[in-house]
Amino acid sequence: MRYVLRFFVATLVLTSARDEVFVGETEQDVVKVIQATLECRHVPGMTVGIFKENDTWTRGFGTADLKSGRPVDEDTLFNIGSVTKSFTMALLAIMLKENKLQWTAKISDILGSEYGFIDDYRTRETTLRDLLSHRTGLASPDIGFMAGFPSSISREDLCKRIRYLPEQIPFRDSFIYNNYMYMLLGHVAEKLGGDTWENLVSSRIFIPLGMKSTKILKKTSDVLSSDMAHPYIYKDDILHPAEPAGAILSSAEDMVRYFQFVLNNGNTTTGDQLTDPKLFSEAFSAAIPVNREKVTVSKPTFPISDVQVGYGSAWFESSYDGIFISTNGGMFKDYQSKSLTTTMYFLADILLDKEPWLNSSTACSFPLPWKEVNETDPRLTEIPAFLPDISEYAGIYGNEFQPDFILTVSGSSQTQLNFESGIIGGNLYSTQDKERFLMEITYPWEFYVPLTDHNNVTTKTNVTFVREVGTVTSMILNFGTNITYTKDVSILDVISRNTNGSLN
Ligand SMILES: *[C@@H]1O[C@H](CO)[C@@H](O)[C@H](O)[C@H]1NC(C)=O
Ligand SMILES: *[C@@H]1O[C@H](CO)[C@@H](O)[C@H](O)[C@H]1NC(C)=O
Ligand SMILES: *[C@@H]1O[C@H](CO)[C@@H](O)[C@H](O)[C@H]1NC(C)=O
Ligand SMILES: *[C@@H]1O[C@H](CO)[C@@H](O)[C@H](O)[C@H]1NC(C)=O
Ligand SMILES: *[C@@H]1O[C@H](CO)[C@@H](O)[C@H](O)[C@H]1NC(C)=O
Ligand SMILES: *[C@@H]1O[C@H](CO)[C@@H](O)[C@H](O)[C@H]1NC(C)=O
Ligand SMILES: *[C@@H]1O[C@H](CO)[C@@H](O)[C@H](O)[C@H]1NC(C)=O
Ligand SMILES: *[C@@H]1O[C@H](CO)[C@@H](O)[C@H](O)[C@H]1NC(C)=O
Repeated sequence: MRYVLRFFVATLVLTSARDEVFVGETEQDVVKVIQATLECRHVPGMTVGIFKENDTWTRGFGTADLKSGRPVDEDTLFNIGSVTKSFTMALLAIMLKENKLQWTAKISDILGSEYGFIDDYRTRETTLRDLLSHRTGLASPDIGFMAGFPSSISREDLCKRIRYLPEQIPFRDSFIYNNYMYMLLGHVAEKLGGDTWENLVSSRIFIPLGMKSTKILKKTSDVLSSDMAHPYIYKDDILHPAEPAGAILSSAEDMVRYFQFVLNNGNTTTGDQLTDPKLFSEAFSAAIPVNREKVTVSKPTFPISDVQVGYGSAWFESSYDGIFISTNGGMFKDYQSKSLTTTMYFLADILLDKEPWLNSSTACSFPLPWKEVNETDPRLTEIPAFLPDISEYAGIYGNEFQPDFILTVSGSSQTQLNFESGIIGGNLYSTQDKERFLMEITYPWEFYVPLTDHNNVTTKTNVTFVREVGTVTSMILNFGTNITYTKDVSILDVISRNTNGSLN
């Protein structure tokens, strides 16, 4: 860590003639707080882009590649993770204008009868806004995206299979973040635009906005290219390289162009109005509340409160000390996400001419001294059962829209099975409950880290086997809702058989 810090202090450029964003010495204060945050939160590098009135400020901090010591600059590419969703929203806004449609357009009218959802009501009524605001109530078993799908399965194949995603809560009842729905929205754009999502996002957004460096991640190894900030995970006091999936890779310079376009309601800096400004601004109205925590009459926890209003289309909306803000993080965890939060609040205060409530010391201790976080230890102490014939559970298990699970016996163990699904794998531990096991993902470890808490305990998932006339025929995984996998069936068989056939 020390090495990293020394490196970026030495390479920082502190002054630039075109910067009007920060007045006087504020720029040095900003740099100081960002540097302190990176060091104390163990973040190897960060890039910041600011657009205020007609001025922009972009800077790189820290290191993009720990091996070579290459510094982050304003052109270094980062994986923007879920901010990609807002590009899909913007692309749809452009397509809607061309097709004279509104956000209330029904998915069934655009995609036709080959596509659908678990019940007739959703199939008939679901609109673009329902998908964009995560209010379908459908389950989102992200394990499929973590595992990865066989390359022979296309986006279209998967979108046709979304009809098998089970309901978790009633339609439009409350918020469930659902990555599958953004895959479907990307496909809606493909239908409206007559090209792939990748080509459309590039020809309709990156090129007209002059986002010259931005590109789409094709293979996970692309994150190791020479223009990228290499991904690292801080664990056990070491920064480990990681290869998380995501879609758009962009830089501070390019993202500033994008935000200019967003804040100008779909108008480019060269004056091309790419979509209807009304359509664009509607995406920033909250369409659903996000958390239903009980509101109590109490003093705000922090000196300035950030009150969540809800989720619009690809953006979380909140009121920061009375000022409307829209945010979206990527797949960040712990230190990284706190470093983004504190940097964002600090910069917002400066840009709004407020006295910042965070400084280089509280940016590191946050949420202390205002809020104490006591981690609970969910360590499960279930006693395993010795099973005389554990091999009866081994085999391949398939589902209508998820990659297969392959279960094998773990050596001579009578209590444990191994599993593999795409690139992930781990163990199934028996319990005293007949037919119930606990599933733990153990590799690749950069994928299981997001499922690990501060006590290094991995979230475990209940897996229950089902028998018919004494023989194991399926297994049920509980990810908030039950997902059934049938024994001796593969998603590849199902797709080749019939694009919307069920496994039964
Ligand atoms: C921004 O630029 C426009 C066009 O060049 C100009 O009319 C406007 O006054 C500028 N705004 C500020 C705050 O400088
Ligand atoms: C888009 O920008 C151009 C030039 O900057 C301006 O003339 C035009 O009025 C803008 N359109 C809208 C709808 O704001
Ligand atoms: C930072 O802020 C905290 C509380 O707001 C204050 O106690 C502390 O003295 C400040 N530290 C610095 C270095 O300014
Ligand atoms: C957290 O733990 C400390 C020490 O065990 C205790 O004093 C404090 O009350 C706890 N705080 C909360 C919010 O539970
Ligand atoms: C965390 O758990 C992993 C996997 O069980 C183990 O390899 C690692 O040593 C543990 N780290 C700590 C700090 O306990
Ligand atoms: C697994 O199921 C059992 C029995 O229903 C329940 O007590 C336990 O909390 C569940 N564990 C997890 C990790 O969901
Ligand atoms: C999920 O499956 C388990 C195991 O079969 C069962 O006990 C539980 O009731 C199911 N939950 C729901 C909501 O269907
Ligand atoms: C798929 O399902 C839809 C609706 O249930 C039906 O209309 C269509 O004919 C089915 N397609 C195939 C290829 O079975």
